[in-house]
Order: sequence, then structure tokens, then C-alpha cells
Amino acid sequence: MPKILVTNIGFGKASPTAINRLGDVAELQLNDRGLRHEESAMAELIHDATILIAGTEKISKKVLDKAPNLKMIARVGVGVDNIDLNVAQTKKINISYTPDAPSQAIPEFTLSLILALIKGIPFVDRMMHQKIWQRPMGRMLSSLSIGIVGAGRIGSKLIHLINTVSPQTKIFFYDPFVSTHDKAQKLDLGTLFKECDIISLHLPYTDDTRNLIDRGLLFSMKENSYLINTARGGLVDEQALYELLHSKQIAGAALDVFEQEPYTGPLCDLDNCLLTSHIGSLTQEIRAIMEEQVVEDVVRFINQKPLLNPLPGFNFCEI
Ligand SMILES: NC(=O)c1ccc[n+]([C@@H]2O[C@H](COP(=O)([O-])OP(=O)(O)OC[C@H]3O[C@@H](n4cnc5c(N)ncnc54)[C@H](O)[C@@H]3O)[C@@H](O)[C@H]2O)c1
Repeated sequence: MPKILVTNIGFGKASPTAINRLGDVAELQLNDRGLRHEESAMAELIHDATILIAGTEKISKKVLDKAPNLKMIARVGVGVDNIDLNVAQTKKINISYTPDAPSQAIPEFTLSLILALIKGIPFVDRMMHQKIWQRPMGRMLSSLSIGIVGAGRIGSKLIHLINTVSPQTKIFFYDPFVSTHDKAQKLDLGTLFKECDIISLHLPYTDDTRNLIDRGLLFSMKENSYLINTARGGLVDEQALYELLHSKQIAGAALDVFEQEPYTGPLCDLDNCLLTSHIGSLTQEIRAIMEEQVVEDVVRFINQKPLLNPLPGFNFCEI
């Protein structure tokens, strides 16, 4: 029986039937710590695994070099920046992922962050819990412009969602690989940062996009504008963002992702920064879909059938 190491936290809770399917065809080792494994723990745990079901744990060369039997990584989610893809390619490790499910959850989550920010809801909530009655003035989404960086699955759905909820909102996008969008106008990145009231990031984290949103872009943002990041922490110069928010040169930011997670850094001290703990796609419904898709591809892999969601370029299909 193949050995499956499951490092993704809570895997199987949203869809118990899915995990039962796996128990029938493989030997399972679950992550029962409720915490993300560090790289050193991954390197120890992975030794006997044939298949790894992973979340955002670091799957580095150091980890992969300790996994002589590993044939497949099934990523519960869409971002694969935590995997050393060059090493996985050399070792011919098959990778599956769940690209479509998060794109249903993240647009809704991002819109809720945008609305919470422009209405001042987190601030007023904090005041009310201290029994302080304050009534700050909010903004209407219809009067603001939005710039989406990365118009792929998530960015494009967010554009449509905003357009449906607030047809008067002017929507712009920047994406070097997408030339047009039916509901948004393309701008270059510099202009988008200078001119939009709300900027929301939906691009992948790669060697090319690391710190793409640098000090220069951040400090070019309009007074009273907002930055939303539900993509990856490493896309943004976090220190520069802290300085920008601390000096109140923009109105606020909402961050679901951080360079180091779990995050406990200085942004936690700022009233104008809405913080969430990488929960963008974490809903009961979407988790269940992702778990079922992962299990389906793992079972297919074990039965030598074609994967439904292989990561492009990582479908070697041998066990
Ligand atoms: N917070 C969460 O829980 C969560 C959940 C799912 C996905 N994500 C993040 O969202 C990202 C986007 O997901 P997706 O499914 O829309 O991916 P996608 O591949 O469908 O879309 C990404 C888009 O970004 C564009 N892009 C690439 N380089 C760019 C650049 N330099 N500037 C601007 N755009 C660029 C691509 O052309 C593509 O259109 C993922 O890579 C992941 O990091 C976060």
C-alpha cells in the first residue's frame, strides 16, 4: 500500500467521506498538531512517503532530498510558491492542485475586506468592545476606483463581482499576460498605483514578483487610498507598507497573507490595518470541494489514471 503523508492542517474535516476513500487505498499519516510543520519537521516526516498532501508548508530542496520514494504532491490550494518546483521537476514528482475552488471564495472574501475597510467597520468594532461610541465617516464603493493586479482566475472573478455589486465603480487592472477584460480597463502598474483608490493583489508569488510592490509603488499611492493583499505576503515590501500606514499616508490596508506566517509583527499595532490569518479561501464549502478534488486525484494517481488537476508541466504519471 502506498504511504500518504498529510501535512495540510485539518485535512478531511470538511469532507470526512473523502478521507475515508483514502484510508481504503493507502496508509495515512495525518497532521494532528493543528499547526503548520516547520521545514525541519517536514524533512523528517517525509522519509517514507510516496504521496504528500500539502498545504502551504515549505517543500524545499532540503525536504525533497529526504524523500526518496516521493512520487506525488497533492497541493490543497492553488499557490505552489512553497514548493521548490525546479527540484520537483528534476525528480519527476507529479503535482496536482485545486485551482478553481479558491477562485470562488477569494473574490467574495476580498470584497468583504474592501467593504469593511471603506466603512471603517473593524475600527468601530474595536471601539464598541471598549464601550466607546464613535461614528467615523465611511465611503461608497460606487464613488471609488479599483485597481486589480493580476487578472487571472481570482482577479477576473473579483472584477465581475465588483461590477455586479457596484456597476458605477471604475475598475482597472494590470496583468502583463492579459491584454483586455470586458469589465475593466488595462493600465500600467505605476499608473494604477498612482490613480486608484483601492488596489487589490491577485498575482502569484514567484522569483519575478517577489517584492514587486516595492517602496516606490507604495509611496506613490493616493492619499486616502487602500491596499488589499489576499495573494502572498512576499509580493509586498512589508516594512515600507508599515511605514506608509504608520505615517497615515494612505487610509488603510487589509492583509490576509504575510512574509512570515503565523504573523505577529508590527502591523498588528496599527489601527488602520485590517489583519486576517490566511483565511481567504477557508470556508466549509470550498474546503470540502478542495478535499474531494485532492482525494480524487490521489486515488486516480494510485490507480494510474490521468489526473484531473495536474499542475502544468508536472504530470509524469508513474507510481
Ligand atoms: N489567501 C488565500 O487563501 C489564497 C487562496 C488562493 C489563492 N491565493 C493566491 O492568489 C494567487 C492568484 O490565484 P489565481 O488562481 O487567480 O491564479 P492565476 O494563475 O489564475 O492568475 C494569476 C494572474 O496573475 C498574472 N500575473 C503574473 N505575473 C504578474 C505580474 N508581474 N503582474 C501582474 N499580474 C501578473 C498572471 O498573468 C495571471 O493572469 C495565487 O497564486 C495565490 O498565491 C491566495
